[in-house]
Amino acid sequence: MYVLGIETSCDETACAVVRDDGPAAADPARRIVSHSLFSQLREHAPYGGVVPEIASRAHIEHLDGLVAESLSAAGLKLADLDAIAATAGPGLIGGVMVGLTTAKTLAWATGKPLIAVNHLEGHALSVRLAADVPFPYLLLLVSGGHCQFVAVEGVGRYRRLGTTIDDAAGEAFDKTAKLLGLGYPGGPAIERLAKQGNAARFELPRPLWRKPGCDFSFSGLKTAVRLALESCGPAPSEQDRADLAASFQQTVMDVILDRARNAVAMFDGTYGAARKHFVVAGGVAANAALREGLVALAEKSGMHFTAPPMNLCTDNGAMIAWAGLERFRLGITDSLEAPARARWPLDPQAEARPGAGVKA
Ligand code: KG4
Ligand code: ZN
Repeated sequence: MYVLGIETSCDETACAVVRDDGPAAADPARRIVSHSLFSQLREHAPYGGVVPEIASRAHIEHLDGLVAESLSAAGLKLADLDAIAATAGPGLIGGVMVGLTTAKTLAWATGKPLIAVNHLEGHALSVRLAADVPFPYLLLLVSGGHCQFVAVEGVGRYRRLGTTIDDAAGEAFDKTAKLLGLGYPGGPAIERLAKQGNAARFELPRPLWRKPGCDFSFSGLKTAVRLALESCGPAPSEQDRADLAASFQQTVMDVILDRARNAVAMFDGTYGAARKHFVVAGGVAANAALREGLVALAEKSGMHFTAPPMNLCTDNGAMIAWAGLERFRLGITDSLEAPARARWPLDPQAEARPGAGVKA
């Protein structure tokens, strides 16, 4: 079974073909038949963040070529595909419409089924492309638009345990990077600079620290970083910036680990002995310091820790193709009327929050 997946919800135009290899042990090298990605970083870099209109236009310019490239690298024709999947939200609506309309057109022209994938489900299930992780598992989804703990009960079955009440963790990395004069995206730049810095130099606030539940809040942290930078005088040195990057990263890690301890207890309370797996996904999961902290926490809690390979953490086509494949295997497909959605929470029962479900 071959499924084509298209991802256009933010600033990566991506396309991939994945295949179902039956009950064999999970191996992304075998399952991902081809994988093409055009990163729009250079287009958005002068503006210090993603510009929606530029993103939509770049998706239009590159997507057809990427689909052709993915098929030819896979040695397949459109007729060989079993289904066509695309991100239908949440995300920047112009970009989502480009990818979803392309997928609908291909589905209509070939008579193949369409699968309208929630981008967050793509992140949530990406781990199963690379490892044999059974349901239910506890997921920390940390990206540029999201920061939430989710109990993943099965395909299409998600229970949100906690989320950010303002900014997402990746957004905090990006905004802090901007303040420090680093490029976009901020996460990798801060991680690099933090290696040269002293994490103990600046005392930054830890919002919701030691409070019950597993919600997050990061917006106050950004203001604190700005004030700390100003306290270094009109021309902060390279060392000042490195120390601030390290202190910021440490603070975010401390907050995430504090919240994760509560999330584990909440998950345990509901799923008891069935719980064994702790999974992290999304762009911020590429952060080595975060992974180390989570590995230690999971070990202490008697859980297996799994994270997708780095290239499957940030947005990509394979995770959308894979989520499409998991749905298709269960007989779930969508009509050509499936809407593009700017907002689309994974857990429809969860209370709407300002920072949740906007972008992924
Ligand atoms: O899931 P993702 O690729 O896309 C969206 O959020 O749409 O996540 C991107 C986010 C950005 O905010 C970026 O700064 C962050 O992930 N990120 C990182 C790292 N690599 C990417 N944050 C911290 N450390 C990293 N190494
Ligand atoms: Zn994402």
